[in-house]
Amino acid sequence: MRVEELDTPTLTIDLDALEENLTRYQAYFTQHGIGLRPHIKTHKTAAIAAMQMAHGAIGLTCQKVSEAEVFVNCGLAVDILIPFNIVGKAKLERLVALAKRTRVTVAADSAYTVEGLSDAAQRAGITLGVIVEVECGMERTGVATPAGATELAQHIDRLPGLELRGFMGYPTPPAVRPILQETIALFDKAGLAREIVSGGSTRHAFEAHLLPELTEYRIGEYPTGGEGHLRAGRHTVEQCALRVQATVISKPTPNRVILDAGSKTLSASTLQTDRGVSMGYLVEYPEARFYGASEEHGHVDVSACAVKPEIGERVQVIPVHPCPCVNEHDEMVAVRKGVVEAVWPIYARGMIR
Ligand SMILES: Cc1ncc(COP(=O)(O)O)c(C=O)c1O
Repeated sequence: MRVEELDTPTLTIDLDALEENLTRYQAYFTQHGIGLRPHIKTHKTAAIAAMQMAHGAIGLTCQKVSEAEVFVNCGLAVDILIPFNIVGKAKLERLVALAKRTRVTVAADSAYTVEGLSDAAQRAGITLGVIVEVECGMERTGVATPAGATELAQHIDRLPGLELRGFMGYPTPPAVRPILQETIALFDKAGLAREIVSGGSTRHAFEAHLLPELTEYRIGEYPTGGEGHLRAGRHTVEQCALRVQATVISKPTPNRVILDAGSKTLSASTLQTDRGVSMGYLVEYPEARFYGASEEHGHVDVSACAVKPEIGERVQVIPVHPCPCVNEHDEMVAVRKGVVEAVWPIYARGMIR
């Protein structure tokens, strides 16, 4: 079957582009001796995670326990990092059950979190690996200072049922090097273990070698690309492997076409471009601007297109943010040179706990 025969809207992934992205990023991290630990939050798909492992990944990153459960259930009982504070009895019980099935390391940024981890690990009779998250400028989670992170690491080191494994930050542009260096110096002074110094983000991936302190790196969006990566020059149009196949269903004015793919297909994510807000990049019409969406309608301004799309025509849309776009779909169709090779279930979609 050819891709043009698929009903729309449909999420597709180009296998040549996917494999090229997996190869070029893995080659970079291998060259620089930094372990690549892909974040599955982007593709949420076991087949791609298996490919990432086959390309040389050291393990996987899963944001949520429920995501990690999916991958282990799919046979990927690999070394898993959960860079998220696990709080609450229900999740702690699932976390320790998971840690009996595969090697798990979990991040924390408070005494509250690590004491919960310690209680759960002791009740389950296991040892849980823990890293401290240190603030690297995002002002989300993370202990505010290297000194505070070291104090929390000492607390982890003393708590039963826990094994301190190091620390992480997100995101980690080269500018955060002093934070990493200071944290390492303080850990070393206190005699604390730091086998893991973990950085992350696709945006700064190819600058990771400027942080030689890193032992490993978490990236999510590199296999798929997206409009943000395209406009920033990190992925070419061809390397943007993830596409939504859509159909023009209406052309109420000469300059406005409506697609059958809206926020329920692409997600409500937007990107600020030099031409205004965008919700996706139309491969066949680079001058078009996908400026808005209702749930099932994509609103596209085609005034700048010399030749304009017509009703019934099919277009391919590169989503601005692949992660929530994938989360809208049950399956992803894997395509090579326009021919359908596989249909992959997106088992980890909706795994929010
Ligand atoms: C903690 C953490 N690490 C790594 C990543 C991966 O970043 P990116 O999607 O830019 O590759 C994310 C993405 O949200 C994240 O939250």
